[in-house]
Amino acid sequence: MYHVPVLLEESIECLRIKPDGVYVDCTFGGGGHSRAILARLGNKGKLYGFDQDREAYRNTTDDERFTFVRGNFKYISNFLRYYGEDKVDGILADLGVSSHHFDEAERGFSYRFDGTLDMRMNREASFTAEELINGYDEQALADILYLYGELRNARRIANAIVCRRQTKAIKTIFELTEVLRPFCTKGKEYKELAPIFQAIRIEVNAELDSLKTLLCRSVDLLRSGGRIAVISYHSLEDRLVKNFLKTGNFGGEPQKDFYGNQITPFANVSKAIVSNDREIADNPRARSARLRYAEKI
Ligand SMILES: C[S@@+](CC[C@H](N)C(=O)[O-])C[C@H]1O[C@@H](n2cnc3c(N)ncnc32)[C@H](O)[C@@H]1O
Repeated sequence: MYHVPVLLEESIECLRIKPDGVYVDCTFGGGGHSRAILARLGNKGKLYGFDQDREAYRNTTDDERFTFVRGNFKYISNFLRYYGEDKVDGILADLGVSSHHFDEAERGFSYRFDGTLDMRMNREASFTAEELINGYDEQALADILYLYGELRNARRIANAIVCRRQTKAIKTIFELTEVLRPFCTKGKEYKELAPIFQAIRIEVNAELDSLKTLLCRSVDLLRSGGRIAVISYHSLEDRLVKNFLKTGNFGGEPQKDFYGNQITPFANVSKAIVSNDREIADNPRARSARLRYAEKI
């Protein structure tokens, strides 16, 4: 199984799909959300499915209403212009990596297997986790561990990485986990390694920059009444989505016009929607998922 879609019904429901509409699935992955959108589209509807990982292409189906775009969703406006679409009726983003990424040892996303320190979603990109771990100075390493992994001992971990690489470059997952293990509680290693690997992955793929660009582009791309739905998996992403949908900026303070009226691009901004107990029991990935949606004014 490439990937089990999370919050499937809820996210498709909140897009309020029009059979003749134009939709974008920014994170095609295993295609679960895309297939559900296609099932609601009529003959004239269209769906563009983006994924920066070329392996996702193998999950596409032969459907003339569907176009696969092998690229980063931060270029959504350019790609859609290329395909002759100025406006769309709905945008969905199910952020982060797929289960497939964690299951393939050689992709380097999982601390369960040994492999090269890669972690690129787009394998044509030049920057890898190995370059980050061996190239960033101690302060920069501490910053990403603190900001993206929310780790209190970020400085000490960064220092241990730098000390180790002075004798020998850290090239594999297990070489890295060996350096990290002293910072983990016995028996809780997997749980405590997760935020460290998450932080490295976010930096390698510049995930927050792509998300910010996508959110900004969505304002111009969505038709009035069109909807955006985003599923995020950690608080940094969720905060960006929440603030932007509420106010149209990432600080979370709405701009005001000359008369003091708030200027916001979206209405019907939802609260966070989370998975029910049954979904969480069936799919542990669903535990941290938060879905938010809004409607373009
Ligand atoms: C959580 S999975 C999506 C799963 C999908 N909804 C499904 O039902 O199978 C996220 C996917 O988005 C892709 N992805 C993540 N960030 C991206 C970006 N900035 N641009 C394009 N694709 C991205 C990843 O390669 C991955 O395949």
